[in-house]
Amino acid sequence: MRQRLVAGNWKMNGSLASARALVGAILPGVGGLKSEVAVCPPYVYLETVGALLKGSPVALGAQNVAREDPGAFTGEIAAPMLRDLGCKYVIVGHSERRALYGESDALVAEKYWRALREGLVPILCVGELLEERDAGHTEQVVARQLDAVLTRSGVADLGRGVVAYEPVWAIGTGRTATPEQAQEVHAFIRGRIAGHDPSVAAGLRILYGGSVKGSNAVGLFAMPDIDGGLIGGASLLAEDFLAICRAAG
Ligand code: PGA
Repeated sequence: MRQRLVAGNWKMNGSLASARALVGAILPGVGGLKSEVAVCPPYVYLETVGALLKGSPVALGAQNVAREDPGAFTGEIAAPMLRDLGCKYVIVGHSERRALYGESDALVAEKYWRALREGLVPILCVGELLEERDAGHTEQVVARQLDAVLTRSGVADLGRGVVAYEPVWAIGTGRTATPEQAQEVHAFIRGRIAGHDPSVAAGLRILYGGSVKGSNAVGLFAMPDIDGGLIGGASLLAEDFLAICRAAG
């Protein structure tokens, strides 16, 4: 039985004060959930948020990580530094990183490998652009993104992380994939991994991301291959985020 995960990706939003307030408003609502909950604040708020989460069931995650070991890499943050601050998770290959900062499949695969080596659980984001979906290339794109990690790290290591299917056309647009559209790609992802190792595929958590809200979460999470969500906009409002967490159960 896969434990569902609902992870909030705060992206580059908020302030120290709003980060504190958001955690303060989330914590009273997470007691008694069977699902796991995580929040991924901007780097500079990790320490503050981590301190507030201590002793709570909510895990801490980062939004990105350097490919390199610590060293002369101005502006980068290394995986051991994230561990230092108590991070369990790190998002790698978010579509905004891929599209706006030129992160290639190969770089994402290196980051995934590095995160695991340093004891973090990577959340690997995959997903197609609208024109790729319209051209019928969704599976091809997702397969290419997955295969980069499979080639670099192997299937056992893929099983030690989390995959998030995030169709780029659904991110921040208010246009969610239907549960059926999402399920189809989730089943494809699980099937592709099953081709390497059926037991890894059966145990792997595959999250859906892209305009998840309390109102559509129930339908999405009812799908057999959707094991939770990676939540952007709705993770910035405690009530919205908690509604999604409750939908996960
Ligand atoms: P969204 O973002 O929920 O605002 O669509 C999801 C994501 O980018 O992870």
